[in-house]
Amino acid sequence: MTVRGLPMAVPAPGLPTRVRIHEVGARDGLQNEKSTVPTAVKAEFVHRLAEAGLTTIEATSFVHPKWVPQLADAEQLFPLLSGLPVELPVLVPNERGLDRALALGARRVAVFASATESFAKANLNRTVDESLAMFHPVVERAKAGGVHVRGYLSMCFGDPWEGAVPVPQVVRVCRALIDMGCDELSLGDTIGVATPGHVEELLTALGEEGIPVSALGVHFHDTYGQALANTLAALRHGVTTVDASAGGLGGCPFAKSATGNLATEDLVWMLTGLGIDTGVDLGRLVATSVWMAGRLGRPSPSRTVRALSHEDAEGQEGREAHKEQ
Ligand code: HMG
Ligand code: MG
Repeated sequence: MTVRGLPMAVPAPGLPTRVRIHEVGARDGLQNEKSTVPTAVKAEFVHRLAEAGLTTIEATSFVHPKWVPQLADAEQLFPLLSGLPVELPVLVPNERGLDRALALGARRVAVFASATESFAKANLNRTVDESLAMFHPVVERAKAGGVHVRGYLSMCFGDPWEGAVPVPQVVRVCRALIDMGCDELSLGDTIGVATPGHVEELLTALGEEGIPVSALGVHFHDTYGQALANTLAALRHGVTTVDASAGGLGGCPFAKSATGNLATEDLVWMLTGLGIDTGVDLGRLVATSVWMAGRLGRPSPSRTVRALSHEDAEGQEGREAHKEQ
């Protein structure tokens, strides 16, 4: 049966029955906006995402405010989210960031490494190994306090300065993050250059390294329109955690070729069509992204947001025309 605003569910073999969406719009999305979004708008955004059924919503970053001024209000924002029945991970690059996050009661943090030297320098002002050394006490202290730690790894496929990134180079840093104690890894295609065979190759190599697929999430940016195809390749490989950003907001201010993340709505459309449960109410999510687009002053790049909000507008016009008759 087809429900209006949803695709018909036709399961395909070899796929999971449930996927956990790690929503990054409020962090990865808003860190890249030219203007700084008011704290109250960010808080409302996160509340609306939770009401739409997302259960893991990355809230903000405790990074240096001069590096990412868009998220400099982390101390003001985080308390406005207390009481929400969702996980609210935050990014922390170092012990100073961890102290700030713990002081506010954060229970999930994420460190963020790079597979390449160029991006480690641009994003963290460190070499890859120096940044791993910076994360070490962060992970150790977080784990000792029972805090869940995600380890992001950027530039897993390609890098704007170095080109294609060799798989063994990526595996080495993944291994280091796991050995450090990270509970899960998120494999970042920061500039969106991955294609499905490359995703499959990396996931196979990580499996051969003994890193369980249950500890892996994927984080695709949609620069070349490959994010959904890459996600499907990852799902076929057994991945069940997928990062996405409501409305397709996002990018990285330290990698100019990074555009928005895979839009959560596009992901939910595909997963719903495959009969995979996400717990997300697509209509409410689209309404949230349309609302956020209004705050940002530009339309969402998500195809699904555009298609469904267009359908809604047409429905509304039809209803109004009917009333006038
Ligand atoms: P640095 O300049 O080398 O910092 O930056 P430092 O360690 O030399 O410290 C200098 C000063 O900054 C000190 O103050 C510190 O206390 C202060 P001073 O003693 O001079 O008065 N400081 C801080 N203040 C507040 N909060 C902190 C903090 N740390 C130091 N946490 C640093 C190093 C890591 C801090 C900087 O490079 C930074 O903040 N980088 C963050 C970059 C960022 O947020 N990038 C975007 C997120 S990553 C991403 O988007 C990719 C991802 O989505 C996955 C993908 O797509 O690939 C995750
Ligand atoms: Mg990202």
